[in-house]
Amino acid sequence: MKIALIGMPAIGKTTLGRKLARIYGMDFVDLDHAIEEAIGCSIREYFDGMGEAAFRDVESRVLADHVARPGAAVLSTGGGIVLRPENRALLRQRCLVAYLFATPEVLLRRVRNDRTRPLLQVDDPLARLQELYAARHPLYQETADFHVAADAAGTRAVLAELQRHL
Ligand code: S3P
Repeated sequence: MKIALIGMPAIGKTTLGRKLARIYGMDFVDLDHAIEEAIGCSIREYFDGMGEAAFRDVESRVLADHVARPGAAVLSTGGGIVLRPENRALLRQRCLVAYLFATPEVLLRRVRNDRTRPLLQVDDPLARLQELYAARHPLYQETADFHVAADAAGTRAVLAELQRHL
């Protein structure tokens, strides 16, 4: 079985995914990290040099590769994984998908001083988060099997809520 965590940047997919995998004795795969291994540089450098479309091509390939691998795993995904319909279809068909959500205001507090996320390197990151949220929230919703609020609650409470659905 594959469990996939989806949601906006900085919602905590990697931290929660790693803990969840440990609890269930499953492998853990951070897809952003797997992408960086595949491209041989940071996502930010790749975005800057090759553009977003090239990044999305690699992202789709790496997702398909990991979904097809045998064995149980928890996959933490990049925030934009739901943008391509083929990724949404693959996630729906082959994974149990949890949507971790929080408001853009809460996310802003978590991404302050973060220089690793290329899409948030703008003058007004809150406006950007609001724009991304508006565009993606429906896509996360249509892809997920269930939703877990990850804003106010601490990691332990969010983990317990995730486990309740699994
Ligand atoms: C992206 C989110 C990033 C990373 C890339 C694009 C996005 O992952 O995949 O920078 O489009 O929201 P996180 O959600 O882990 O920040």
